[in-house]
Amino acid sequence: MMSLSTVIITGANRGIGFELTKRFLLSNEWKILACCRNPDGADALKDLAENSSNRVEICRLDLTNENSIKAFSEKISGRAIDVLLNNAGIMGGNHQSAFDMDFDAWFETFKVNTMAPLRMVQASIENLRQSSNPRIITISSQMGSLNRMGKGSYAYRSSKAALNKVMQVLAAELEQEGIIVTVMHPGWVQTDMGGKDADISPQASAEGLFRVITSLKKSDNGRFLQWTGEDHPW
Ligand SMILES: NC(=O)c1ccc[n+]([C@@H]2O[C@H](COP(=O)([O-])OP(=O)(O)OC[C@H]3O[C@@H](n4cnc5c(N)ncnc54)[C@H](OP(=O)(O)O)[C@@H]3O)[C@@H](O)[C@H]2O)c1
Repeated sequence: MMSLSTVIITGANRGIGFELTKRFLLSNEWKILACCRNPDGADALKDLAENSSNRVEICRLDLTNENSIKAFSEKISGRAIDVLLNNAGIMGGNHQSAFDMDFDAWFETFKVNTMAPLRMVQASIENLRQSSNPRIITISSQMGSLNRMGKGSYAYRSSKAALNKVMQVLAAELEQEGIIVTVMHPGWVQTDMGGKDADISPQASAEGLFRVITSLKKSDNGRFLQWTGEDHPW
């Protein structure tokens, strides 16, 4: 049997993460560690896993809980991981304007969007080092781009801007080891987060992200890419 590559996908139970899980499954070359915080309620993901010939493995993972990430790290100990795909993210609540700011919710947004991706890198770095083509991809957003003016959503925008910097620094530090680190904008996508008026379907986003992720080269390290493969301005 052909040996499979392995991808970790966070937030795999719905939205872009679920579509990414389906897209990786479609290619036949991938084993997917599909992470979600409540596997019991993840009916669509459970159906997918049941019909995946064991290629989708559901893993419990709450990104705001350090012990949950540690337990996940222990669970995957010794296994080679080819792609860490940090996809899970939150919008940051309803009170994130300059003069009506929920600071606790802002902190929570940083935990999930900015700090958890680095915790996931810590949790899987030894596994990535066992791969012949290791990649760390984090789903960011155009809303975190400093080149783009925009109003409101302070918590979300700042969490993604900081995430971009975290991953850019990491890219510089892991370059010598040949680990590719990128951040990606998935498009404005019709999910619970993007809303129904968004530009593209989750399927279209996942298809683009998959193509870009599976054809990354070492020279792509440290780039901010769109789901189309084009550069996104920082
Ligand atoms: N949709 C867009 O237009 C758009 C645009 C730019 C960037 N993005 C980014 O794309 C990514 C995916 O977005 P989406 O549109 O698919 O969002 P979504 O439909 O709201 O799904 C978010 C996913 O993240 C998971 N998640 C949230 N908090 C978590 C936690 N503490 N622990 C574990 N999982 C957690 C959710 O799990 P639960 O089901 O348990 O809540 C869910 O699976 C995010 O990083 C988002 O910022 C989206």
